[in-house]
Amino acid sequence: MDLEREYLLQNYARYPLVLARGKGCYAYDLEGRRYLDFITGIGVNALGHAHPRIVKVIREQAGLLIHSSNLYYHQYQGPLADRLSAMSGLARAFFGNTGTEAMEGALKMVHAHGRAVSPEKYEVIALENSFHGRTLGALSITGQPKYRQDFEPLVPGVRFIPVNDLESLGAAFSDRTAGIVLEMIQGEGGIYPLTQQFVAKARELADRFNALLVADEIQCGVGRTGTYFAYQRTNHVTLPDVMVTAKPLACGIPLGVIMANERAAAAIKPGMHGSTFGGGPLACRVALEFCDILDELLPQIQRVGGYFHLQLNELARKHSFVKEVRGFGLMIGVDLHIPGKQLVLDAMAEGLLINCTHDTVLRFLPPYIVTEREVDVAVKILAKLFSKVK
Ligand SMILES: Cc1ncc(COP(=O)(O)O)c(C=O)c1O
Repeated sequence: MDLEREYLLQNYARYPLVLARGKGCYAYDLEGRRYLDFITGIGVNALGHAHPRIVKVIREQAGLLIHSSNLYYHQYQGPLADRLSAMSGLARAFFGNTGTEAMEGALKMVHAHGRAVSPEKYEVIALENSFHGRTLGALSITGQPKYRQDFEPLVPGVRFIPVNDLESLGAAFSDRTAGIVLEMIQGEGGIYPLTQQFVAKARELADRFNALLVADEIQCGVGRTGTYFAYQRTNHVTLPDVMVTAKPLACGIPLGVIMANERAAAAIKPGMHGSTFGGGPLACRVALEFCDILDELLPQIQRVGGYFHLQLNELARKHSFVKEVRGFGLMIGVDLHIPGKQLVLDAMAEGLLINCTHDTVLRFLPPYIVTEREVDVAVKILAKLFSKVK
């Protein structure tokens, strides 16, 4: 901790905890104290810690080939693209390393798509309260001033509209619109799902104005809500043109991806985009293993997610300082009338890891292997803490 204070950029506000290892749903600190991990590295450790099948493929692949660059083929990028295409309904993949990098690539796709029509077609519609990453392009479409203000001017041509506001959505589109970017469930912004109507209207307008609809599934995607992607959550699937995802995809090995239909993918021609590390053999092989395991876990995510929601709603009814429980599957926010930071620290002291986003929203992103048993442990801790709130 002292060395970090002396030698790191002071951009993070870390909790006073040093994690040393993990097993299943639990993480352990240096003293061997155990914590039920319901934040999973902000939705990354989707299979918990040290999942035997993930550990096995990492060990095997590390001894064979970790990195090859995109100068050459390797055995796993093609099969993973095929797999993700079947899961998402989108034809083509580009692999990078992080969420924000995937978003940068998607924005380049949107700009190139617009530019191919007209130099005036470069506007992007984004939502207030959104979060799309920390690089300059992704910040440009992030609708929260606190993340943007120190770095302006950013990429021009972005129009922000309120979440789920059909009128503003209609008014924002024009022939200058090259794309619209939506988190199907806003994560960092406090777990706010978009309505079916809003997404359907965005699809209709994107088609009418020849703009690309981009879904940011970096936090809500790849199984988190109990379907492969959050846009598949209901029977009325609104397919985006482009979808970006990252966090859980390779269970902690950095991997991000842009999935695009043929129309959107056509905007990126040879030489227009690339990555040195993106889609390496280690990350892709782990992601393929993860996809196999995910198929087995989807019903469990739905079941346990439903159970967790019920338990939290029960708790909410007993405490007037709880405003609302929001989210789907294993992506849940408990919105409070009071700041949540102290509750996060108190939960940690009781052996439960969660975090707080947007000051008042307790955020839960448990691992997909979670069962009712761990949910009961978490809810018991929360009940104890909630009963002490003055
Ligand atoms: C919806 C969304 N988009 C983009 C990002 C940025 O991802 P990364 O931190 O991997 O760059 C995040 C990260 O929290 C996110 O939740």
